[in-house]
Amino acid sequence: MQAVLITGVGKGIGKALAQKFLQEGFFVIGTFLTGRPEPQESLKDFSLDLSSSASIASCVQAITNFGRTLDVLVNCAGVLLDEDEVATVPEKLRQTLEVNLVGVVDFTERLIPLMKEGGHIVNISSTAGSLALTGEHASHFEGRYPAYKISKAALNMYTATLAKRLAPAVTVSSVHPGWVKTDMGGQDADLTPEQAAEGIYGVAMSRPATGGFWFAGQRVPW
Ligand SMILES: NC(=O)c1ccc[n+]([C@@H]2O[C@H](COP(=O)([O-])OP(=O)(O)OC[C@H]3O[C@@H](n4cnc5c(N)ncnc54)[C@H](OP(=O)(O)O)[C@@H]3O)[C@@H](O)[C@H]2O)c1
Repeated sequence: MQAVLITGVGKGIGKALAQKFLQEGFFVIGTFLTGRPEPQESLKDFSLDLSSSASIASCVQAITNFGRTLDVLVNCAGVLLDEDEVATVPEKLRQTLEVNLVGVVDFTERLIPLMKEGGHIVNISSTAGSLALTGEHASHFEGRYPAYKISKAALNMYTATLAKRLAPAVTVSSVHPGWVKTDMGGQDADLTPEQAAEGIYGVAMSRPATGGFWFAGQRVPW
């Protein structure tokens, strides 16, 4: 049975993605911060706060002790703290980077020994972090959420550098999930979490060229 580790399976995209992988016959290891997922066969959950190095260390230790190696790691958990502000507020930036960047890097680096040969690390990013697309977003997004955008741009560089380092053993990708109806995306968004999960699952299983940025099977410009 293949195994996937997904962060943030208590709600939103991570929850839908866990269901998708379960339907596809995977064993799912999930993490939660405040919203623990309902118990299910083939799902084991662990508490994780990506803003705390102590929590990351103890979570990875518990997962290691659990004894499964990983076919897929999806770094899905993330925060958007800007609250629509155009100004870059340093404290929001610090908090955002701790979770969306430093926490993801710390967590991933500690898990690399558990990745199987031929495995795939998927970092859930956003077109909001694309330098190439800056200025081309719909008006609702223009100029807003700077801390969030900075965090995803930096996460994309982690994808690119890690991909070089782990090739050819492990594939590393950034994936944009689409604009999704979640607490973060709001209810006006285009996609349901289940639709987003289909797209992410498709990229995760297609094992594309390493070091890419993907949405719906297409490359996204960095
Ligand atoms: N929704 C969109 O339109 C959209 C678009 C582009 C990219 N994304 C990205 O997709 C991913 C999932 O977003 P979403 O829309 O599903 O958001 P969401 O509904 O707000 O869910 C966020 C998830 O992150 C977890 N989380 C938050 N802070 C955490 C922390 N400090 N440590 C560990 N886990 C933490 C939450 O855990 P608890 O519930 O347990 O507290 C929750 O599972 C994020 O990386 C986001 O940036 C979303």
